[in-house]
Amino acid sequence: MTRKTTIKTRLTSAVLAGILPAIALAALTGCRGERSRKPPRELLVDMDDQPRWNPQTKSKFFADGRTMRQPVTGTVPYGRRVANPDDYPGQEWAGFVETERASLLKEGAAEFLGLAEGVDPAKAWANLDPAIFVDRIPIEVTPALLARGQERFNIYCSACHGYQGEGGGKRRNEATQLAEEYGGMVGRRWSTGAVPTFHDPKYQPGATEKNAAGDDVLVRTGRDGYIFYVAMHGVLGPGPSPADPPVNKMPSYAHALSARDAWGIVAYIRALQLSQRATLADVPDDQRDILRAQRPGTGGGE
Ligand code: HEC
Repeated sequence: MTRKTTIKTRLTSAVLAGILPAIALAALTGCRGERSRKPPRELLVDMDDQPRWNPQTKSKFFADGRTMRQPVTGTVPYGRRVANPDDYPGQEWAGFVETERASLLKEGAAEFLGLAEGVDPAKAWANLDPAIFVDRIPIEVTPALLARGQERFNIYCSACHGYQGEGGGKRRNEATQLAEEYGGMVGRRWSTGAVPTFHDPKYQPGATEKNAAGDDVLVRTGRDGYIFYVAMHGVLGPGPSPADPPVNKMPSYAHALSARDAWGIVAYIRALQLSQRATLADVPDDQRDILRAQRPGTGGGE
């Protein structure tokens, strides 16, 4: 080896020793955390980019012009199989899955919209005619449903309507002749006027009103389906002047209630109504003595 070559070799090694780690360092640390709109440079593309269609878009490939295919006629989607809770004895989740499934599919205008049979949901809300609403709660009323309804009512409705459904607002106290607030904590100061009491005759089941000809006609406020509707849609009323758009006199609670919850609330409102006009005769035999003992100063009368 000549001296010249030795120097050359040394130089090359020095350069390599300096440059290689620098490249490695740049490769390891470079481009970390930097955002770029440009597509990344890829040495091996693998299957990162493939031709595909976006859902719900057009395509000339198929005769019907859709990218998405329709299920083959007669296909039963997996989620529609009716699971039978009896197939899973002693397992509580099975019943729960079944009710959940029914709620997700939202089949049945009565249960999910409160509509009477044969009413077209697409046209239903045009004039809120009493006949479009179901008369009675379309699902089975059980103690569990009632308990759920009581809980949901106390959470979502009582603030304005009061725990007994007595409404809220201001009235004159006969004894002191002073104005006093009554009812729900929010309802007593609600900006659009008094919150109605559910013990008003027009909210009783099957409530009627005299029409212009003097005949009794059903009013919507007495129908279970209407109370369900109000829980889910709120109350829309005229704005401050005829030129103004309608305003929400009561907000909707659809964000917070499932259909079952709303029927539970309807059932509970019916129970509250009953509680205000029931007599001792409505109470089961074995409970009467307990109630008699609780009533102050009545001497146990009916
Ligand atoms: C923030 C206050 C507020 C809450 C909470 C509230 N309401 Fe109301 N509700 C009102 C007011 C105010 C009215 C009267 C609207 C009007 O001017 O007709 C009303 C009216 C009603 C009516 C009668 C509608 C009619 O056409 O006469 C029903 C039924 C009703 N509410 C049910 C419910 C139910 C069920 C809940 C709970 C899910 C609830 N409300 C929660 C304020 C409230």
